[in-house]
Amino acid sequence: MRLSVIGTGYLGATHAACMASLGHDVVAIDTDAAKIDLLTRGTLPFFEPGLGELIAEQLATGRLRFTTDISAVADAQVHFICVGTPQKASAYSADLSQVWSAVDALAPYLTKPTLVVGKSTVPVGTAALMGSRLHQESPAGAAVHVAWNPEFLREGHAVSDTLNPDRLVVGVESDADEQLLRDVYADLLDRETPWISTDLATSELVKVSANAFLATKISFINAMSEVCEASGADVVTLSQALGMDPRIGHQFLRAGLGFGGGCLPKDIRAFMARAGELGVDQALTFLREVDEINLRRRTRTVDLARELVGGTFRGRQVGVWGAAFKPHSDDVRDSPALDVAAAMYTEGAEVIVHDPQAMANAAESFPHLQYAQSALAAARDVDVLLLLTEWPEYVEADPEMVAHVVRERNIIDARNVLRPSSWRSAGFVYRGLGRPNS
Ligand code: UDX
Repeated sequence: MRLSVIGTGYLGATHAACMASLGHDVVAIDTDAAKIDLLTRGTLPFFEPGLGELIAEQLATGRLRFTTDISAVADAQVHFICVGTPQKASAYSADLSQVWSAVDALAPYLTKPTLVVGKSTVPVGTAALMGSRLHQESPAGAAVHVAWNPEFLREGHAVSDTLNPDRLVVGVESDADEQLLRDVYADLLDRETPWISTDLATSELVKVSANAFLATKISFINAMSEVCEASGADVVTLSQALGMDPRIGHQFLRAGLGFGGGCLPKDIRAFMARAGELGVDQALTFLREVDEINLRRRTRTVDLARELVGGTFRGRQVGVWGAAFKPHSDDVRDSPALDVAAAMYTEGAEVIVHDPQAMANAAESFPHLQYAQSALAAARDVDVLLLLTEWPEYVEADPEMVAHVVRERNIIDARNVLRPSSWRSAGFVYRGLGRPNS
């Protein structure tokens, strides 16, 4: 089939490459000429394992191309909207300006019956609004149909999550639209991927409620961390024991510095804002607690570090391991690690950050922090070292080697991934989040 993909961020670039790998002819469009230039040369503008290779491979087949020229959508049978929906600068709600720009740019080229499929995460009701706008603005009018097909990919696993999804969810207005989407995903359906076809509103809600649930699960265990800290219990053992109940499960039950990134934080806020508009704000007030528990872990980490360096950051040197919001990503959007690093800097600490992939992005957003070329260099002469993003190289670091370079042997394991006994044997004061002090 001939497909167009509008927006080439994590979602769009991955979707375009994966659809080409399923045998479709795909044109991917973005207004950012620099990004398109890189993608056309097979270079990824961000870090995502396996995606660069897949794009290069699909470019070589001729089935995938990138352009800034929106008129390239003219031949496509199905159009996927994959643009960003960030949080508004001064409100909880989602900024849909990229969605409406994409719709306005696309509309003049919709001259025959066609399907426009939203994949971006949006407030419930957006798909219906998009339908009305396309009917008004397109030459084909009401022959343009809208569907919604939320994407559940995680950064760091984008390709495998797209090609081996847990489920495919589509919100459609007619059986014919559903059939068109079944044709797009025929290969995945042959492999018995569960398929859920529903109305537009339900499909939009599946995505935001999935992210709200995941955020709630993380904040639940982090709330338990607070109780563990007050009672001398160990949240790591607690989480292990809880997760063995199959009704609870281990995933997203890792206590630590909490969630960040371009999705969970802004999605729960946008969900609360939308519930308010719909008059059901009380249904989601618990998400405010989820958000606050999450942010309190950042404050707690700063408090712990301050305590370990003697009550003030002034004149203290601090090493930070990790800048990305999670390992295997260079994404620093709402990164808990950088939030903690910046807070310590603001209180007077000299902060040296290391991250295997995210330093360029971190330096762009936080130019006042210092950046070291290796994990060991970030630990040199520090009064306290904080592991804030659990990259494997930090998890595997040798405490004896680190002990030789630091000024004071203080380590905060804000992701609860280190073996406390190894660090304590090397002479470190070890502090986890939600773990006993000794
Ligand atoms: C998330 C959803 O998982 C994905 O389905 C959706 O499409 C986009 O949002 P992503 O933002 O890539 O994906 O990250 P994810 O792997 O979900 O992690 C989110 C955050 O939660 C990270 O900061 C991570 O460190 C944190 N986390 C995750 C925890 O603190 N504890 C856990 O147990 C799991």
